[in-house]
Amino acid sequence: MSETLVVVGSQWGDEGKGKITDYFATRADMVVRYQGGNNAGHTVVFDGNKYSLQSIPSGIFNPKTVNIMGNGMVVNPVSVVAELEKLHDRGITDYQLYISTRAAMVMPWHPMLDGAYESQKGDALIGTTKKGIGPAYSDKYSRTGMRMGDLLEPEYFRERLEAALEVKNMELKMLGLEPLEVESVYNEYMALAEKLGPMITDTSRMVNDALRTADKRILFEGAQGMMLCIDHGTYPFVTSSSPSAASVPVGAGISPKWINEVVGVAKAYCTRVGSGPFPTELFDEIGDGIRERGHEYGTVTGRPRRIGWFDAVVGRYTAELAGISHWAVMLLDVLSGLDTIKICVAYELDGKEIQSPPSTIASLARCKPVYIEMPGWKEDITNIKNFEDLPENAKAYIHKLEEVTGTPVGMISVGPDREQTIIVDPELNKF
Ligand code: GDP
Ligand code: IMO
Ligand code: MG
Repeated sequence: MSETLVVVGSQWGDEGKGKITDYFATRADMVVRYQGGNNAGHTVVFDGNKYSLQSIPSGIFNPKTVNIMGNGMVVNPVSVVAELEKLHDRGITDYQLYISTRAAMVMPWHPMLDGAYESQKGDALIGTTKKGIGPAYSDKYSRTGMRMGDLLEPEYFRERLEAALEVKNMELKMLGLEPLEVESVYNEYMALAEKLGPMITDTSRMVNDALRTADKRILFEGAQGMMLCIDHGTYPFVTSSSPSAASVPVGAGISPKWINEVVGVAKAYCTRVGSGPFPTELFDEIGDGIRERGHEYGTVTGRPRRIGWFDAVVGRYTAELAGISHWAVMLLDVLSGLDTIKICVAYELDGKEIQSPPSTIASLARCKPVYIEMPGWKEDITNIKNFEDLPENAKAYIHKLEEVTGTPVGMISVGPDREQTIIVDPELNKF
């Protein structure tokens, strides 16, 4: 029987999914991305090198690992080729990468429309990555989208492109943007097809074949975070897919029966980029200190991330929804030096205490965090390898996180490097 493991972001993204995926990818036969696109920015650090990946799975550094961009993703072929070129420039040339024929394809008009919709929103803008993720998923669900497999059938691709541009050009013109020409998009995408064609295939078939093979280890790499989930996040300040482990079967093309172990990646505090309510947000020098110590600036856009205390209301909610079996608590080292650390355990909404997030952002914006306080620690913990060796107050903090979220901590990260990882529950080493 094969082993599977899902890595899911449990807050507002950038929790450290790239690091955790890479940690397990060193022993995975397959790493599969199942949603999102190049709105992600996953950082991987090992042997003194730092890499940032957008749509390519974080198993790309291991020549024996098969990397798959699943059907649930929105794939921008321009960006994939650019990412591969960047990797080649850094000597990463020996890899296995496949892209689903059924993955939605980001077309040139998607980022243009993303930018235009954002401009029209004025102060109410979502703060998207402007990669065209929302428009590409909209086209998928309105059944007008194009898919990666279309690149393998030039005549069909041209027909779909002509039909799409007839409508899209009207919209582009309405928004004051330059219309696109069929011929130039066709030529650009056919040139991309030449480069990516050999990688585009029925990836669901590949994952299912691997699942049926004894002793294969298959890792599913989520992007974004549960609070950015299109269904369960802080709508409308969300992305256009669901990062949940529940999306894996659909987004990779497998049966739900294969999913059991789910690692929820969570920072030891919270961050958010882009707009939308954030109950535990800090506006003081404590938040500024965490931002500087944690280098909390976006990997893709360089935007400063908003900082807040750990939110256990969010933790309980996302653990339940995403089926999280263990936490990976990240960036614990960044909290070193604080006198007191707060954890939000409930919200107060209009004078009443509530235990899970309300559905509208209007209500969420009125929620006041109810905090408990924990004593901090001063020691540098970046070289610690065993849980027992952490300062007593750091251990107490971790145990408190388990208690208030009702979910055990399986691993802890004390620095960006692959080696700066503490396994707390040896169960995880079975993968
Ligand atoms: P992802 O999108 O979930 O993969 O996360 P990002 O890569 O966008 O952001 C996480 C950032 O934190 C990256 O810069 C990582 O190198 C860094 N990082 C990950 N784990 C740790 C940690 O334990 N300590 C510190 N100091 N940095 C970390
Ligand atoms: P990783 O995988 C953090 C945020 C954007 C914006 C909202 C919608 O690196 O954790 P989109 O471009 O998806 O339509 O933007 O979602 N967002 C992320 N924030 N990490 C990410 O990915 C994100 N992907 C999207 O900032 O608020
Ligand atoms: Mg990121």
